[in-house]
Amino acid sequence: MKRTYNYLSLKSQKPKMGFKQSHTRIQVINIVFVLAAVILTSSRDVNGRKVHHREYYFEYSSINCREHSGSLTDFGGVGDGTTSNTKAFQDAINYLSQFESEGGSILYVPPGKWLTGSFNITSDHFTLFLHQDAVLLASQDESEWTVIEPLPSYGRGRDTEGGRYISFIFGTNLTDVVITGDNGTIDGQGEPWWDKFHKGELQYTRPYLIELLYSDNIQISNLTLVNSPSWNIHPTYSSNVIVQGVTITAPVTSPNTDGINPDSCTNVRIQDCYIVSGDDCVAVKSGWDEYGIAFGMPTKQLFIKRLTCISPSSATIALGSEMSGGIEDVRAEDIVAINTESGVRIKTAVGRGGYVKDIYVKGMTLKTMKYVFWMTGNYGSHPDNNYDPNALPAVENINYRDIVAENVTMAGRLEGIPGDPFTGICISNVTIELAQNAKKLPWNCTDISGISSGVTPQPCDLLTQQGEEYSPSCDFPTEHLLID
Ligand SMILES: *[C@@H]1O[C@H](CO)[C@@H](O)[C@H](O)[C@H]1NC(C)=O
Ligand SMILES: *[C@@H]1O[C@H](CO)[C@@H](O)[C@H](O)[C@H]1NC(C)=O
Ligand SMILES: *[C@@H]1O[C@H](CO)[C@@H](O)[C@H](O)[C@H]1NC(C)=O
Ligand SMILES: *[C@@H]1O[C@H](CO)[C@@H](O)[C@H](O)[C@H]1NC(C)=O
Ligand SMILES: *[C@@H]1O[C@H](CO)[C@@H](O)[C@H](O)[C@H]1NC(C)=O
Ligand SMILES: *[C@@H]1O[C@H](CO)[C@@H](O)[C@H](O)[C@H]1NC(C)=O
Ligand SMILES: *[C@@H]1O[C@H](CO)[C@@H](O)[C@H](O)[C@H]1NC(C)=O
Repeated sequence: MKRTYNYLSLKSQKPKMGFKQSHTRIQVINIVFVLAAVILTSSRDVNGRKVHHREYYFEYSSINCREHSGSLTDFGGVGDGTTSNTKAFQDAINYLSQFESEGGSILYVPPGKWLTGSFNITSDHFTLFLHQDAVLLASQDESEWTVIEPLPSYGRGRDTEGGRYISFIFGTNLTDVVITGDNGTIDGQGEPWWDKFHKGELQYTRPYLIELLYSDNIQISNLTLVNSPSWNIHPTYSSNVIVQGVTITAPVTSPNTDGINPDSCTNVRIQDCYIVSGDDCVAVKSGWDEYGIAFGMPTKQLFIKRLTCISPSSATIALGSEMSGGIEDVRAEDIVAINTESGVRIKTAVGRGGYVKDIYVKGMTLKTMKYVFWMTGNYGSHPDNNYDPNALPAVENINYRDIVAENVTMAGRLEGIPGDPFTGICISNVTIELAQNAKKLPWNCTDISGISSGVTPQPCDLLTQQGEEYSPSCDFPTEHLLID
C-alpha cells in the first residue's frame, strides 16, 4: 500500500481563515515501514524563478493512514518560542476533527519552538506528528491550565485534595490516536511546578505531560519528553496502548517525574524506551484504596521490553503503590538500569485491597543499585482516612530470572504484610555482586514465601532453595501476550 497526499490540494477545502500561504509542501507517504527524511529541494516555478521547497516525507507503521492533514503554521502557529500557540493548536484540532469519520487526519508540527497551553485531542483517527526539530514548550502560566475532576479511581488529586490541572496533551474517549514524531521534543518546562510543589504553594495537583483516558488503540512513539511538571505518559482506563522509542528525561531530583504510568489499562506494550527521572521509570498502577477498589479496573497484559532506566531514588519498574484495581500478567524482559534504587519494586499497603499477581521478569542487567529485589507491604500513603483496614492486597506468583547485578548495597528486601504474606515468589539464575559498602545482611525477608535456585549471594531461608534436580526456572508462560 502506498499513498501520496498533496498537502496543498487539501488546503483548498478549508474555510478561509487568512493563513499565510507557504511554499511548504508536505507529502505524507504511508508505507508499512517507517522512513523519515527532510529534503531541501529547489525547482523553478511557473515564471522560471528558483523557489525552495522543503519536502517532508514521513510515515510510520500500520494503524494510521490519514486522509487529511494540516500544518500548525496554517492555523497561525508561530514557532519563535515566545508567541502563544494555544489558539493555533485549538483551531488546528477543531478544523481537523471534522475528518474523524472521513479517514482521519494528521496535524504536523514543523521545526520551531512552539509555546502553548494545554490542548485536547478531540478526534478519533488522529495523529500528532512532531518534526525532529519541533519543540512543544508547555506554558508556565497556570491560568492556561484548566482544572479538571480527579480520576474516579483515585478520589482526589495526588498532590492536593480535589481537582487537578489538566495534562499538557489530554484526550478522553478516543479511538486510534497516534502521538509521534521523528524524535521531536515535548518540553514540560516543569521547574516552576517543582518549586511550587516543594514549597506547598500548589492549589491543585500538577499536570502530567500526556494523559489519555477511556481510549483504545493509542500509540506514543519516537518522541523526546523533557522536564514534565509531574508524570510523563499516563494512559488510563485504556486498551491497546503502545509506547515505543520514547526518550524521557528530567533532573533526577525532580519530584514525581515518573516516566510511563499505565493505569487501569489492558494490553500495553512499552518498548525501546530510555528514561532518566526523579521517580519510577515505569510505574504500573490501578487506582488508590477505596476509590480504586470501587472502580475495580486492573492493569493487565502489560509487556515491557528493552527499557533503560536511570533513577537514583526510585524503581526501574514499580508495581503500585496505587494497585487497588489489581495488576496482573506483567511481562518484562531485557531491562537495563544504572544508578537506580531498585529493579522491580512491589509497593502496597493495608487498605489497598486489589492484587499483584502473575509477574514475569527475565533478563535484567543492573549496575549500582540499592536493592535488586524490593517488595514493600507498608507503603502507606492513603487518599484519606476512609480506607478499609481489612482491605488486604494479594501478592502472588512473582517470578524473576536471568539477572546480573553489580555494585549492589542489598540483594533483596522482601517485606510482606503480617497475616497477609506475599506468596509464590520464584527467583532463579541471579548473580549479584555486592558493593564494598554493602549491608552485612544481603537479604532480609519477612512475611513472604517462595523458592529460589541458582542465586548468589545465598537467599533468605523463606525462599526455599531447590536442589539442582528440581532446577525451577520460575516457569515462564510460553504463549505471547496479544500486544507482543
Ligand atoms: C520510529 O522511528 C524509527 C527510526 O526512524 C522507525 O524505524 C520506527 O518505525 C518508528 N516507529 C514508530 C512506532 O513510529
Ligand atoms: C479539554 O477537555 C477538558 C475535559 O473534558 C475540558 O474541561 C477543557 O475545557 C477542554 N479544553 C479545551 C481547551 O477545550
Ligand atoms: C467516556 O467513557 C466512559 C466509559 O465508557 C463514560 O463513562 C464517560 O461518560 C465517557 N465520557 C465522555 C466525555 O464521553
Ligand atoms: C532522540 O533525542 C534524544 C535527545 O536528544 C537522544 O538522546 C536520543 O538518542 C534520540 N533518539 C533517537 C532514536 O534518535
Ligand atoms: C558503586 O556504588 C556507589 C554508591 O553506592 C557509588 O558511589 C560508586 O561510584 C559505585 N561504583 C562503581 C564502580 O560504579
Ligand atoms: C542465566 O542468565 C544469563 C543472563 O543473566 C543467561 O545468559 C543464561 O542463559 C541464563 N541461564 C539459564 C540456564 O537460563
Ligand atoms: C528486616 O526487615 C524487618 C521488617 O521490615 C525489620 O523489622 C528488620 O529490622 C530488618 N532487619 C535488618 C537486620 O535489617
